[in-house]
Amino acid sequence: MSNVINGKQFADDLCEKLKTEVATLQEQHNLSPSIAVVLVGEDPASQVYVRNKVRRCEQLGIKSIEHRLSAETSEADLLTLIDELNNDSAIHGILVQLPVPDQINDKAVLAAISPKKDVDGFHIENVGAMAVGENQMVPCTPLGSLMMLQDHLGDLSGKHAVVIGRSNIVGKPMATLLLQQSCTVTIVHSRTVDIQSICRQADILVAAVGIPNFVKADWVKEGAVVIDVGINRIEVDGKSRLVGDVDFDDVQSKVSAITPVPGGVGPMTIACLMYNTVAAAKMQNGL
Ligand code: GUN
Repeated sequence: MSNVINGKQFADDLCEKLKTEVATLQEQHNLSPSIAVVLVGEDPASQVYVRNKVRRCEQLGIKSIEHRLSAETSEADLLTLIDELNNDSAIHGILVQLPVPDQINDKAVLAAISPKKDVDGFHIENVGAMAVGENQMVPCTPLGSLMMLQDHLGDLSGKHAVVIGRSNIVGKPMATLLLQQSCTVTIVHSRTVDIQSICRQADILVAAVGIPNFVKADWVKEGAVVIDVGINRIEVDGKSRLVGDVDFDDVQSKVSAITPVPGGVGPMTIACLMYNTVAAAKMQNGL
């Protein structure tokens, strides 16, 4: 049996359930979950991510309203748009695709989004809620990664989980979720002394550093479960290829399970955005 965790299939199954739920909300409560997706500028990777998010919404019957703003948009103009979306009861989720251009302070943007509509789970109120174990909106990539880990391993308690990377979007919330599941959690990062020997102790290894093929076979314990969050574009023989933070070909034979890139964490991130949007719509309507 293959040890590759099929994130695409997992995401398709989750989205199929959400599609049924969206139809029921429409029929029984006249409620159409909807999300505003805001893209500032023309970053090519962000354009692809936004297109994929909007496409998933269409498949599920979730209404998506795209706001494409020029790269010169001022912070004040973006904050005005967010204020309008916060006050629009027909919009249940607001996502501002990151990164935003330099003239805009991303912290100010994330703080301006109503925590109830913060389907990314990046608002400090949602981060704080998670820190004390009262999850409200949970960041999509860590949530999707946790779902796959639980599906594969069942109970995670007592496992040593090592998270490589300490970003606010993935590393820190991933560590928080794993701690909630009673894992022993270690975060390693660019200043960690001897990352490899710590990674070798991991039952669960989550790589979220953004360095192509960073993790090699001699970094992983025999039988570990590896979640590769990286999405890195590299040139191989003159062709553009997507690879993760884990050297898949080197590591695969040593581990009990591994997520591929593409087709692993990426589709689950989008599926969890759909999940959060449906949850936000229900919460805002007392359901
Ligand atoms: N840019 C990279 N990942 C993300 C994400 O999960 N949400 C948003 N809003 N922007 C991102």
